[in-house]
This record gives sequence, structure tokens and C-alpha cells, in this order.
Amino acid sequence: MKYIIFNWKSYLNLKETTSLSRLIASFSKSKKHKIISAPNNFFHLLVQKKYPKNTLSAQNIDLHGLGASTGSLDISYLKENKIKYCILGHSEVRANFKDNDQTVSKKFNLCITNNITPIVCIGESKSVYKSKKTKKYLKTQIDNIFNKKTSYREIIVAYEPLWSIGTGLTPKMSEIDEISNYLHDICKKYSFKKIKILYGGSVNLDNVSDILGLQKVNGVLVGSASTKSDFIKYFK
Ligand code: PGA
Repeated sequence: MKYIIFNWKSYLNLKETTSLSRLIASFSKSKKHKIISAPNNFFHLLVQKKYPKNTLSAQNIDLHGLGASTGSLDISYLKENKIKYCILGHSEVRANFKDNDQTVSKKFNLCITNNITPIVCIGESKSVYKSKKTKKYLKTQIDNIFNKKTSYREIIVAYEPLWSIGTGLTPKMSEIDEISNYLHDICKKYSFKKIKILYGGSVNLDNVSDILGLQKVNGVLVGSASTKSDFIKYFK
């Protein structure tokens, strides 16, 4: 079963979010794909009410907790509203809200203790890629975020090269394959029941079947293409 995660970021208004959610709800249950959509945080409850069978993810949480924290999205809201997944450490959150591996690690632990499956985004910059230090960079990110003493139920890692997000550029298929194998390998020293390694960054209708054809790639995290109904229909 390949995981297909739609990160709708802040692309869609309510009408568009509802219409794509309705499309997803119309699909019959598949053994091939598990579809998880991450609408803008503002729309979860409405989508959930209309399409209760759709699986939803939050796009982020923050660490300020309940109480006097204007603008916060606390993990308890996810729990209370049965949102089972949360994207963490997305490059746009790292850039816009100054998240780093240390804050991602704290959010990751919060997800684990609250039974929310974290979708952890990691990925190298163009200069790291060019200097062929991608593996070392990703290993450091994983080691900064995971904890050897904890037994995890399910974790999802999305390998998203920063230079690939929103650019139309992707690594070669052989590189995606190699990195996915590598991530499976280095994660073996941590304890978990289930791990999924996804690829994200400029996934579209032209490349999705090749990417999903790679055995060690357990799915894709898709941004802009996932806002188009033609792309979503591919997973029908
Ligand atoms: P993209 O975004 O598919 O638009 O490149 C991917 C992501 O940000 O997760």
C-alpha cells in the first residue's frame, strides 16, 4: 500500500477544498493507495463533517501549548478532532516560522505521545546535493529528530529535497531509489512497528507512476499538483 499525501498548503479556498474532498470521498476503498489530505488547518472540521471517511492530516502544530498563545495550533485540537496525521518540519515551515531539527524533534515527540502519526519532512539544499553530501545531511536530520530510547508505532518520513519543492526539478529516479533505500537502512537503528519513506518535491502526473514504481518508495507527498482534480483522479 503506497501512501499518497496531498499537501494543499494555503492554495485552496473553502469551495475548492470541498470539491477536491468530495472527489476523494467518491473513490472506492483501495488496497493500492492510502490517500491522506492535508487541507489548510482552517478547513479540517468542515471537511471532516461533510466527508467523515476522508483521512486528514494537519500541516503543522506548534509548541506553545494551550492557554495564552494567540495564533497557536495545539496538538490537543488534533486529538480532540480525530486528525491522525501531522506534517512536521516542512521546508516552508522551517523557512517561514524558523523551525529547525530541534523544534521538529519536540513536535515529533508531542505527536508520538498523543498518538498522532508524524509525517517528518527532511531534505537537503542544492549546495548539499551538488557537493554529494545528501546522505550525511539526511542522517544528521534523522538523528536530530528520532530518539533511540523510544518505541514508535508508525512514522512517516518524507524525503523532500529543498531544491525540488515547487521548482519542477526532481532528482533522478536512481537517486530517489538510492536515498529511499538509504533512509530505510539508517532508520533500522530506531525502534518502530511501521515506517514509510515517501518522496516529495515536484511530483506530477508525468513522474508519479515512475516514482511509485520504486520498491522502497512507500508513497509521495504532493504539493501543487495535488490541487488539480486530474492528478487526484489518477488514484481513483
Ligand atoms: P510540490 O510541493 O509538489 O509543489 O513541489 C511538495 C511539498 O511541498 O511537499
